[in-house]
Amino acid sequence: MPSTFSTIRKNIRLDFSHRVYFTKDCFSHTNDTLSDIVQPHRKNQPSKIIIYLDEGMLDGNPNLPDQIKGYFQARTDALQLVCSPIFIRGGEAAKNEWELVEKIWTDLNTFSLCRHSYVIVIGGGAALDLVGFAASTAHRGIRLVRLPTTTLSQGDGGVGVKNGINYFGKKNWVGTFSVPYAVLNDFSFLRGLPKGQKRAGFVEAVKVALIRDRSFFEQIEARADDLAKFNEEAMHHIIRKSAALHLEHIAGSGDPFELGSARPLDFGHWVAHKLEQLSDFRIGHGDAVAIGLGVDLLYSAKIGLIKKSSAERCLQLLERLGFVLYDEMLGSKSKQGKHVILEGLEEFREHLGGELTITLLQGIGEGVEVHAMDKVKILESVEDLCTRNLIQQEK
Ligand SMILES: NC(=O)c1ccc[n+]([C@@H]2O[C@H](COP(=O)([O-])OP(=O)(O)OC[C@H]3O[C@@H](n4cnc5c(N)ncnc54)[C@H](O)[C@@H]3O)[C@@H](O)[C@H]2O)c1
Ligand SMILES: [Zn+2]
Repeated sequence: MPSTFSTIRKNIRLDFSHRVYFTKDCFSHTNDTLSDIVQPHRKNQPSKIIIYLDEGMLDGNPNLPDQIKGYFQARTDALQLVCSPIFIRGGEAAKNEWELVEKIWTDLNTFSLCRHSYVIVIGGGAALDLVGFAASTAHRGIRLVRLPTTTLSQGDGGVGVKNGINYFGKKNWVGTFSVPYAVLNDFSFLRGLPKGQKRAGFVEAVKVALIRDRSFFEQIEARADDLAKFNEEAMHHIIRKSAALHLEHIAGSGDPFELGSARPLDFGHWVAHKLEQLSDFRIGHGDAVAIGLGVDLLYSAKIGLIKKSSAERCLQLLERLGFVLYDEMLGSKSKQGKHVILEGLEEFREHLGGELTITLLQGIGEGVEVHAMDKVKILESVEDLCTRNLIQQEK
């Protein structure tokens, strides 16, 4: 006698449209990109809109809140901004307090936002993750429009489909997969970013080029000197292409909600996540990923996957863009004398679940998945990166 009497099975197909717009000065009176996105779905009922603004934006854009209010005041026939833009803490601190999620839920409830309303968030990746999480869980999901304001979030995280905050001291432990209603990349927001923050997005462009698109790698190489000087046209080009490749992966990989164990876009990230954590976030994500790429590139060459000269070419590009490819944290040891960085491998596996899957390189533009790494060779690669960095600094 079988223990299952019968099974009912139906496939549920969901089709999402994921739209990323590129513009400049999106709150100028004549720019209709955003207002077109948030048009009402029902006749004679203006769209209810609430806006969250990363505090960090204010230094370079002190007039932004007034500009936003003016933009919506000129469009009250169709759009109803329910209150002045609400400021939220920027940076990783935004993701460390559960109370901030409750505060956003309280706002959404107070102003009676419903599933036909829009939550707009303007800010860095951390602010997007926090507000996105709160919006995706309120009423089981209120439409979210993201306006990323860092190079990193415009070319990478902001165009993704994940939200989340840190919990139990672990990054992104609570979160959702939720396709944003739209993403609007406004290049004028990038002007006020400090140099280190501007540079941070370049590394994700190099990363995605390395695993998927050799010709994009060559384009970045050709514009490296312009990028190092933060030439706007060169920056916009690589952000746009990086966003397109990330989106292509999400839409075309067959696993947008990461049910499998592989995460090719996280090339170089197992080291990066560990370094960020070890340094208590002194090392920013972009700088940490550059070092992580350094380790995995040298490792790929050490085990014969790519030519040493190709790995060297990639390292040189990262350095030309202004990244320093070593930090003393990389060599730190536990009280028992163990190399702490190696813990990053198991933590990475745990985070994805299932079998360890790490992306390495078999050529420029060709990522390859492996399921084991040799710890001795990893430490040799770290050592080589350290030596290489000392030589670079002496030059
Ligand atoms: N959801 C995803 O798929 C995904 C992917 C990658 C990264 N992330 C997350 O993104 C976060 C990192 O995001 P980030 O690198 O964009 O930085 P961030 O959000 O940490 O912001 C860094 C700092 O820049 C400030 N800032 C933001 N925009 C500014 C501007 N235009 N001018 C001046 N200052 C500005 C912020 O206030 C903050 O102080 C991490 O928490 C990471 O986990 C999420
Ligand atoms: Zn990243």
